[in-house]
Parts: sequence; structure tokens; C-alpha cells
Amino acid sequence: MRFIDQLDIAGKKLLLRVDFNVPLDGEIITDDNRIKAAVPTIRYAVEQGAAVIVMAHLGKPKGKRVEELSLKPVAKRLGEYLDMEVPLAPDCIGAEVEKMAEQLKSGQVLMLENLRFHAREQGKTSEARGDFGAQLAALADIYVNDAFGVAHRPNASVVDVPYAAKQCCVGFLLKLELENLGEALKDPQKPYIAISGGAKVSTKIGILNNLIGKVDHFIIGGAMANTFLLAQGKDVGKSLVEEGLVEQAREIIDKAAKSGTSLHLPEDFIWGRDIKTAAGVCDADNVPADGMLLDIGPVTIQKFCDVIGESKTIVWNGPMGLFEEPAFAEGSMKVCKAMAESDGITIVGGGDTDAVVHKAGLQDDFTFISTGGGSFLEFLEGKELPAFKALKENLDK
Ligand code: 3PG
Repeated sequence: MRFIDQLDIAGKKLLLRVDFNVPLDGEIITDDNRIKAAVPTIRYAVEQGAAVIVMAHLGKPKGKRVEELSLKPVAKRLGEYLDMEVPLAPDCIGAEVEKMAEQLKSGQVLMLENLRFHAREQGKTSEARGDFGAQLAALADIYVNDAFGVAHRPNASVVDVPYAAKQCCVGFLLKLELENLGEALKDPQKPYIAISGGAKVSTKIGILNNLIGKVDHFIIGGAMANTFLLAQGKDVGKSLVEEGLVEQAREIIDKAAKSGTSLHLPEDFIWGRDIKTAAGVCDADNVPADGMLLDIGPVTIQKFCDVIGESKTIVWNGPMGLFEEPAFAEGSMKVCKAMAESDGITIVGGGDTDAVVHKAGLQDDFTFISTGGGSFLEFLEGKELPAFKALKENLDK
């Protein structure tokens, strides 16, 4: 990879792809970590005397101009972090944008409007995307990718711009992601452990299949554990399950048994009849017929934390229970705390997991918090992400 500090960018125009897909409540940004994380690259570029054209997507406007998904509040917040004016262009391509880009001076920053207001950004084929990427690339001298969060999407701004751009490189945020996820996990210190939770097995099948056999321990919590209990022939009452995945869960249990990975499933739970109130603790063999399993129980917490405490590399995606509800947050919080106290390498990714870590106020006690959601999962699945393929093929020019 070629990084931004390996090119002479003084006096050049940069087209910087970032992932500013942040949660909004009206015009209020409720979590701006992704904006904060991209600031070092932009600040560096400005200090070096480059002019920076920032491009990003927000939400899923599906090719339509949706005012609520304008990047206006994002440009404002970015300006606050950079302590400078960051104007928002009325669009991301077209004559007016070209003029604004042309007039942009060294040390200035311009934000383009939501890329996804154009359906071509997300066209499924290169024909459908057409020359959208080339139009974006033409705005600048150098394309910089700093958008790990969208690295798994074959969108024009990610996969076509590198081919059309005169030069390409990687920003500091993407560099950090590559170092922490790539390098650390290529040759992990052992014991190496993966922790997976959240609602669905279906979104984690790829990770389970890729990591079982590579990790020493695989901990499963959250509602996805219910499907594994079903696969073991247990009754899970009214809990959330994916019936269609029971067979695959069984195969994963078998694969783990043969591969030397210890698979850890919850042995007890906090259960409830509704999602607000805890009704008590039950074990995996005695789940009340009218109950839902909503968090891991005290015995399981202790066991999971003991395994975490003995591990040297720990990767976590997905909460252990319905952590948004105080009655069912303890499992996720305790796992989070055990990781924060570990002196091993601790890596987390995914929006919900990131939310647990921030809710616990332990974000400074982790080795690395990825800005990726889907991209983090696909990276752990061992897939080559489309962004990296496009960059690798174009870094030499
Ligand atoms: C994300 O938030 O995971 C990325 O920005 C990708 O967004 P998407 O799932 O809407 O493509």
C-alpha cells in the first residue's frame, strides 16, 4: 500500500473518500466517531498545503435527493473539528461542483454532497455505474481512500475512482485499520480468541467458518447463541432464533470439535417475558417455555471472562445480550470490562459493539476500535474487500 505521507501532496488537489455514515436524529449527529477518526488525514493534508475535496455517503437515499440525508450537519461538524470553514457543495458532480473544486485553494477543504443521491454510485455493474467514478476522479489530482467502513461496498467512489484517478494512496485511518486488523490478526499472539454476539447467526456464519480452526477459543453470546442451543436439542422458549440456520449451527459445532477451537456457548441466562424486565436466571437446560433469553447469566459471564483473561489476542463483534435495556446489559458490560483489563491485543468492531464500549466509557482501554461495521465482518471472514483490490491495482501509477 502507498500511504498519503509517501506522496508529495503540496499544492495538489486531493479527492478524499471517507465514511461519514453517522447516525442522525434530525440534524443532530448522535455519534461522530467516524468524523473524528478521519480528521488526522485531513489535517495533515491541509498542513502540507493540499486542497481537500471530501466525499462521503449518508444513509440509503437510493439515487434520490433526500434532504434529511444531506451531509450539511456533517460538513459543519467537520469544520468544527478542523477549526475552519468547510463549505458543502450542492452536489458531488456537475458544472457547479467542478467550478468549486477548481477554485479551491491550498489548505482549504470542500465537502461534496451525498454520493448516494446518484444511483450510479451504487450501480451493481460497471455499466450501471458508467462514468460516475471518472467524473469524481476528474475533480482532483490524487485520490485518497480513508474509508474503511465502506471498503466492502463495490461503489463507484470506492472501486472505479482509483482506476480513473491520476494517482492514488491510502489515508491514515485506513492505514491504522490495516495495521490493527491485518497485521495483528495475520500472526496473532496466542491464545487467540474471537467473541461473537448480536442477534443473527446469518451475519456471522462467514466469520465462524473462517475463524474456527484459527482461533483457540470462540465465544458465542447474544441471541445468535439461541440458534446454537436449538442445534444442541435444547428448548429456548420464546427466544429469537433462526430456525433455518440450525443445521449450519450444528455443522459449526462439529467443525469446532474437530479443529481444536474450543467453542464456548452460554450455560445460563437472564431471561424475561418482555424485553424490559428481567424475570430471573435460568440454565440452558431449563429455559421457561414462556421466556426469552435476553442476556448471558452469572456463571457464563464468569467463564467467558476467565477465557478472556487468559488470552493474548481478543477480537469482539456483537453484544452478549439486549444491552440497550439496563436489565440485560450486564453480560456485554462485563465482557467489555474483561477485555479492557486484558494486557493482550484487544480489537472490537461493529456499531453495536462500539456502542457497548462507549457506554462503558472504556474506549481508551482497547488496542483498537474499528470504524467498520459490515466491512469489519467481511474482513474477519477473510474476504478481499473491493476497495483494497481497486487500490492495489492502481497504487503504482
Ligand atoms: C456502514 O455504515 O457500515 C457503511 O457506511 C456502509 O453503509 P451501507 O451499509 O449503507 O452500505
